[in-house]
Amino acid sequence: MEKFWDFKSKNYPTAMDEYGLVTPTKVLTKVKDFGVDFKSKSVLDIGCGTGLYSSIISKEADNILGVDISSGMLGRFEEFIQLNQIKNIELKKTDFKEFDAKEQYDIVLCAMTPAISSFSDLDIMIDLAKESCIYVSFSKDRHSPIMDDILTKLGYPNKMKNKFFDTKEYINSLGYETKEEFFEHNWSQEGTLDEIANDVLQHLSLRDIKIDISKIKELLKDYENDGKIIRETFSTIGVLVWDKN
Ligand SMILES: C[S@@+](CC[C@H](N)C(=O)[O-])C[C@H]1O[C@@H](n2cnc3c(N)ncnc32)[C@H](O)[C@@H]1O
Repeated sequence: MEKFWDFKSKNYPTAMDEYGLVTPTKVLTKVKDFGVDFKSKSVLDIGCGTGLYSSIISKEADNILGVDISSGMLGRFEEFIQLNQIKNIELKKTDFKEFDAKEQYDIVLCAMTPAISSFSDLDIMIDLAKESCIYVSFSKDRHSPIMDDILTKLGYPNKMKNKFFDTKEYINSLGYETKEEFFEHNWSQEGTLDEIANDVLQHLSLRDIKIDISKIKELLKDYENDGKIIRETFSTIGVLVWDKN
């Protein structure tokens, strides 16, 4: 898992890339409309990645702890912190499953991260929050024409599970009232045949699909144009917000 995210970190947008901030900005604006106030608060960002969410929140919060399993992601976030001389963000490299929290945080956020992947992870997340929790994830099946095509040709179902509605049901079953909103979230990645084949290989291995890279290259050949392949992904993400009290 760590290797996969280190690999993804090379092309993952950072807070220095305007396009990377578009969806987080929309999500956080809605979160504030829902009544969450980051001003002078302590925040835990679980699976913070390159800091797309924390970089925005840090303008208001008192302090933020970002935890992430990937040194590649954290390295890129650290670059942004140093460059902008941000003083209120601390980073910790850890698998959230082994996170030894020393304190609670006013607000706990997790966005688009498998760090929170079970009900017991959600229980821990809730225990760590004093005031509010924010959960962001895919809320509809992701659709990526190239990946869908490759999976179909290899004979695998092309549905990615998303846990948004299971999460909502679970949180409600605990007695918390949730607020929610949905956003279109699309992105594209351009690369050479080798680069995209490597990316597809990593995604397939995450699903325990073992295949030779030469086979992937063969399947990708049809998508090559002027030595480049554009891999697009279309998705909808949802944000769930709930107060502890
Ligand atoms: C898609 S990125 C999302 C990053 C950031 N939250 C965002 O929305 O831009 C997923 C992040 O979760 C991190 N991650 C995955 N599993 C994790 C775990 N078990 N513990 C901590 N971080 C994890 C990855 O390293 C990666 O940075």
